[in-house]
Parts: sequence; structure tokens; C-alpha cells
Amino acid sequence: MSTTSLPTPDHAAELRSAMLAAGFTADGLLDLLGAPAYAALARSETVPALRATRGGGHGPLATLVRLFLLQQTVPYAHAAAALPVEAALADGWLRRAGAAGGEDTVDATVDVRPYGGPDGEDWFIVSDLGCAVGGAGGIGSREEGVVLGVGGASTTLAGITVRTPVGSALDIGTGSGIQALHATRHATRVTATDVNPRALGFTRLTLALSGAPEAELLTGSLFEPVGEDTYDLIVSNPPFVISPGARLTYRDGGMGGDDLCRTLVQQAGARLNPGGYAQFLGNWQHVEGEDWHDRLRSWVPRGCDAWIVQRDVQDVTQYAELWLRDAGDHQSDPAEYARRYEEWLDEFEARKTKSVGFGWITLRRTDAAEPSIVVEEWPHTVEQPLGEAVTAHFARQDYLRAHDDAALLEAHFTLVEEVVQEQVGPPGAEDPEHVVLRQNRGMRRATKVDTVGAGFAGVCDGSLSAGRILDAIAQLMQEDPVVLRDRTPEAIRLLVEQGFLEPVTRPGR
Ligand SMILES: C[S@@+](CC[C@H](N)C(=O)[O-])C[C@H]1O[C@@H](n2cnc3c(N)ncnc32)[C@H](O)[C@@H]1O
Repeated sequence: MSTTSLPTPDHAAELRSAMLAAGFTADGLLDLLGAPAYAALARSETVPALRATRGGGHGPLATLVRLFLLQQTVPYAHAAAALPVEAALADGWLRRAGAAGGEDTVDATVDVRPYGGPDGEDWFIVSDLGCAVGGAGGIGSREEGVVLGVGGASTTLAGITVRTPVGSALDIGTGSGIQALHATRHATRVTATDVNPRALGFTRLTLALSGAPEAELLTGSLFEPVGEDTYDLIVSNPPFVISPGARLTYRDGGMGGDDLCRTLVQQAGARLNPGGYAQFLGNWQHVEGEDWHDRLRSWVPRGCDAWIVQRDVQDVTQYAELWLRDAGDHQSDPAEYARRYEEWLDEFEARKTKSVGFGWITLRRTDAAEPSIVVEEWPHTVEQPLGEAVTAHFARQDYLRAHDDAALLEAHFTLVEEVVQEQVGPPGAEDPEHVVLRQNRGMRRATKVDTVGAGFAGVCDGSLSAGRILDAIAQLMQEDPVVLRDRTPEAIRLLVEQGFLEPVTRPGR
């Protein structure tokens, strides 16, 4: 592991003030760099931002960008104009880099990246130098214990996390601390753990520089450091990569196959308070002769409802290439690259793995006698943040569990806002081949319905019971109302489960 010592947060408040005064924020960066260079930086491509800040004529903001995002050496005098430089040197955020052209210079020891919180908070994520995720070159360092900044997976998890105010939250594998930082907004007590002690050091810096409350920081693997404690919210963007060896702590769990994700999910149930949520990103194997739905279903711990969404599947070659590139292996000696590629394929062959799924796992501790476990594939675009969509999903499961078919027919529903109907069929045809209902919010689901389903959804404004609506449809279509009442609840159930219909709750109903 890297042994580079980390800065101390002693003067974090002063540094934060100076950074904000210089406009070192997500919006400030966008203004300074322009959208293309800003977007390129998020892809770890630094050339456009270097061009935009070259020449030293852009003041303190450009100095901070060059220091903390671009790892450039800057004149001491420029640094002094941007922040309390002696405090930054004393605490170890900066170090002296010698003299150049007769001027003293300094450079940064860590990456500091402005990050806008959901309510416009000006936050900062502190991580190892040059380790913003992605980019053509892969990560900047191949040291085992390197701590990365914010990547796509980090923001995905932050977006799907339920943000209800809670007493306690646990972030497992906190890394640079992004999930813990979000949790400080709505959890009274935040605990962050990581097997890599350097990560906890970075989390402390991220929280301090972001002006957020401190968190409890514990070193250790998975749930081991928290003992028997239980939480209202558990989140983890774990090292889920299914790889031939534990090479990079931030991504390779080192437990073999998808065992780390499975263990995390299985052990989470006992650590949740009643009603609590556990939310994870994960990878899982698609094994020859096994249905992946069953694999995931078998992971769900007793006492929990689960909603598991597979967002993507890659065959083993795509998967191996993705992670070889992530580590920058594609830029190494071709023979070495080929050897590593073989290693990945050997590993998958040994595990009879054909492809790898990626997705979201949410557990909710309900202790229900009949748990609701939904395992589905939804690879289409969604509208983040989805925290409220997650709570709504589980509320609908509670509702459906409590209502049998007869009760559904007695119930009243409204069609949720923003649902549109699409007719699919050959142009000019009198009748569509099928009708699709589509949500334009949240999960942006689409579902095929028949004429009855479309007609039913269309008149759901809460005034008539489902049964009464079906009777009216039966009359219109000259169908037997008893038959229609008998066969339609299944479709209604699905429309409720997927969030197209909302039960109307009225006093006394
Ligand atoms: C993919 S990073 C996620 C970092 C951060 N939470 C985020 O969302 O960006 C995974 C983190 O898990 C940590 N980790 C690896 N193995 C672990 C284990 N067995 N238990 C706890 N944390 C672990 C790594 O050190 C790394 O910081």
C-alpha cells in the first residue's frame, strides 16, 4: 500500500473559505473552463483544462485548478494569492517543489475536486493525486492502496440512495468519503469504514474541507469493524470487480467471483434496524446452467424485502477489457497485457461464467412473513436522483402485500402524472398492434398493455373503484364483467408494482 502521509485537516475551515472565495466550486470550474474542458476533466482528460488555465493570467481560481486538479507546479506567490499557503504547507496539502526561473514553487500532495451537493452545497472530494476515475490512460497510480475520487459508480449510488432523515447511516468501503458526505445531510450519526486506512484519512479530509460534520471512521473488512451495531441506512459501492486476483483494493474485493457482493448482501439483513434500507452496487456472475435471477434471489437475507435491478450485462471479454483498461494495462507491454487478459479469461472459465451483470441492490428490513423480492432487468435511461422512487417501490410492495385481488377491485387508483400512451403498429393501420404506457420520470418504465389495460389506466382518476371501472369497460366492449373482474387484477397489480397506478388513500378507506 502507498505510504505517502496525508494532510491534516487542522486548517480545513480556512482553506475551505479561501477556496470558496476564489470560486473553486463546480459552477466556478464550469465558468472558468467552459463546458467541453469541464466535461473532459470529468473523463480525466486534462489537456483542455491545461490550455484554459495556461499563462497564469486567470487569478486564484486557475491557480487552484492547476494545483489540485491538474497537478501542476505553481509559483509560491500565486499559491499565496489563492489560499493561506503557509497553513496549507504546514498541514501537508502543498509541498515545496523547488525553485523555477528564480521563483519558489509549490505543488499539491492530494487531488481536491469541487463537488456540488444536491442542495447546491459546495463540497470537495479529496483523493489520491491523478485518480479521478476513467480517462484514456486508466488510473494514475497502480499502487494497491490508491484511493480514487468520484466516479460514475459513486454518483449512481449517491443518486439511488434513500434520503429520508435517519438516526444512523453506515458507509462500507467509504474510499474518498463521498457516500458518507451525502449521509451527513440526513443522518444524525454517520459511520464510515474501509479496509484501507488511507481511505479513512481521505474521508476525514473530504468531510472537513466540505464543512460537513465528522463521521465515525473504522478500519476493517465489510461489517467486521461495526460489531453488532445496527443502522437505519447502509450503503456501499464495494470493490465489486470480479477479477483474477486482489490487485487494486478500490475495486478487487479479493474474495473470489462475486463472493464479496454476496457476503455484503447476506450480512446486511442483521445490521439493519426495522424499516431500514441497505443499498449496494454490485457485479454478479451469469453462470452456465443457472438463472441469474435465482442467484441474486438466493442472496437476499431473511427478514428483508429486496429490489434488485440489473442495469448492464457484459460478456467476459468486454468485462476483462474494461477492467484491464481501468488499470492502464492496455498501455503496458503487449505481452504483459496478453498475459493478464488470459488470466481473466482463465478465471471466468474456471467459474463457468459467461457474462457479468452490474446493477443495484436495495434491501429493506420488513420482517414480513412473505417478503417481496423483485429481481429485474432495466437497462434503459432513468432519471436520477431515484431515492424517492426507491421508497415508493417498497411502499407499493407493502400495499400489494396487504391487498388480495378482491381488495384491489374495491380500491381506487390514479394514473401517475407524466404517463403517456404510445401506440405501436404499422403506419396507417386502424388498430395498433400493441399499446405501451411510458413514464417520463424516475425509472422511466414502459409497459405493454392490452386494450382493457390501456382503457383502465386512462380512466383511473381516483373517483371509481377498479371493479366499477372494469364493469363499465365490460359493458362497452360487450364482455362478461365477471370474467373481466376475474382476469384483470393481475394486470392491475403489475401496473401498481411498476408505479403506473397509485392507490388513493382516503380516510375510512
Ligand atoms: C469502489 S471504492 C468506493 C469508494 C466510495 N465509497 C465511492 O462510492 O466512490 C471501494 C472501496 O472499498 C474499500 N474496500 C475494499 N475491500 C474492502 C472490504 N473488504 N471491506 C471494506 N472496504 C473495502 C476500498 O478500499 C475502496 O475504498
